[in-house]
Amino acid sequence: MNISIRTSDEMRKFGSRIGKLLVAGDVVVLDGPLGAGKTTLVQGLGEQLGVVGAVTSPTFVVSRIHKASTAGLALVHVDAYRLASGSDLVDLDLDHQQNAVFVIEWGLPYVADFTDDWLEVHVSRDDELTDVADPASGLRDVSLVAVGKRWQSVDLAKLAQ
Ligand SMILES: Nc1ncnc2c1ncn2[C@@H]1O[C@H](COP(=O)(O)OP(=O)(O)O)[C@@H](O)[C@H]1O
Ligand SMILES: [Mg+2]
Repeated sequence: MNISIRTSDEMRKFGSRIGKLLVAGDVVVLDGPLGAGKTTLVQGLGEQLGVVGAVTSPTFVVSRIHKASTAGLALVHVDAYRLASGSDLVDLDLDHQQNAVFVIEWGLPYVADFTDDWLEVHVSRDDELTDVADPASGLRDVSLVAVGKRWQSVDLAKLAQ
């Protein structure tokens, strides 16, 4: 599944559409360079879940847990940038979190140590159509890859509509 996204607002909306699909225990992994829009997507996803606290980059704290506001799901937001290995991700002991979804920026190298099922979101900047001097400008190409049984029957193409 592929989609072009032109603004940060659109990226938030796309994140919220992903958020609608999620159930407790789901894992979403985000890939793409610094400034691609990964955290922006998670903001929309967190808004959709209605979690407590502003979603900002967890780069320096590695992980941040946003509690559910009412009966909903909590959001565990991880940035794996500073992790040295997958076992570090396991050491974070995040899966003792009940009723939560896990969103891991830059988690691709480690996610298989953590779960058998995940949704990958690949974000890239289209530099030909982007003002390269302005890190905040431009078109993003987003593609989704679903791994494992959990996602087998989910129609990801709907997310593009
Ligand atoms: N189409 C777009 N999608 C997402 N972010 C965009 C887009 N266009 C511009 N931006 C800007 O790019 C930056 C992305 O930053 P961020 O989400 O923190 O990236 P990452 O987490 O991938 O490092 C933000 O300043 C955002 O406003
Ligand atoms: Mg980020």
